[in-house]
Amino acid sequence: MKQQLEQIKTAALEAIENAQNSADCENVRVKYLGKKGELTAILKMMGGLSPEERPIMGQLVNTAKAEVDAALSKKVEQMQAEAEELKLKQETIDITMPAKQDKTGKLHPLNTVLNDMIDIFQSMGFDVVDGPEVETDHYNFECLNVPADHPARDMQDTFYLAENILLRTQTSAAQIRTMETRKPPIRVICPGRVFRADEVDATHSPVFHQIEGLVVDKGVTMCDLKGVLEQFAHEIYGPETKVKFRPSFFPFTEPSVEVDVSCSECGGKGCRVCKGAGWIEILGAGMVHPNVLRSCGIDPEEYSGFAFGIGLDRLTTTRYKISDIRLLFENDKRFLDQF
Ligand code: PHE
Repeated sequence: MKQQLEQIKTAALEAIENAQNSADCENVRVKYLGKKGELTAILKMMGGLSPEERPIMGQLVNTAKAEVDAALSKKVEQMQAEAEELKLKQETIDITMPAKQDKTGKLHPLNTVLNDMIDIFQSMGFDVVDGPEVETDHYNFECLNVPADHPARDMQDTFYLAENILLRTQTSAAQIRTMETRKPPIRVICPGRVFRADEVDATHSPVFHQIEGLVVDKGVTMCDLKGVLEQFAHEIYGPETKVKFRPSFFPFTEPSVEVDVSCSECGGKGCRVCKGAGWIEILGAGMVHPNVLRSCGIDPEEYSGFAFGIGLDRLTTTRYKISDIRLLFENDKRFLDQF
């Protein structure tokens, strides 16, 4: 029996030595130390021994069990330590590796210029309002004194989405929406995208941006219009900038003007930026036509107003000397990174 015990112990220790993983260890434990294990079985066989032999044998079995148990625990511990070391090795970070460059985003040049413009007009007491890009014929043309078949519709080649539903060709539709919801005194600007079926080239895009302005109050005159727009031009282009008001035509303003500023690049001598003219056209404006006031329920005998529409894209390309308007819309990172 003693011999048998010795054999079992040797076999157990050998099995522990050869164990490859924790499953092997567990098998050894079950096979030798478990309830039905070999060492446990030997204890049960002790019934056949004499009363003197029993305690001696019992002690031997218990010592053997303790030995196997200790060897097993040691093996398990050793395997855990190895596994941990391996894991640490795999997880080491090479701190000498070059870091990933995080690029932070920044404002698009159009937004930078727009923010400046909003600041200027807000300091003059204007509110910023929003209008829909999909408009009705009613707001984009009819209420602005451009009835169907009016020749002025040719000035703005329109994208129609359905009968009487279109992509707004001008932010002027916002004038009407504002006058319908606000009572004078009104002082608002409405920046936004506008759409015209233009061929794409260096100076034309079917999508571009305008900032509409509207002032309606008692006693508003052309002098107010000139004062506000001159102030705006000086703040955007610098105080030495000359401002020219040219007579023009818009169906919704009377009289109407177009405003040019002296080229900030050449000071008016003529250069590449102003295409040799010395002047750059930046906006259209005029005194709100009485028909427009009337269509919004405002009495033109009591109130008057002026409106203007500034081209944001032109302002941006001239400020940054961008030679092609398409660059503003292509979102080429190499271009945008320069601002
Ligand atoms: N809506 C005009 C355009 O797009 C500009 C404008 C706005 C003119 C307001 C006068 C008054 O050409």
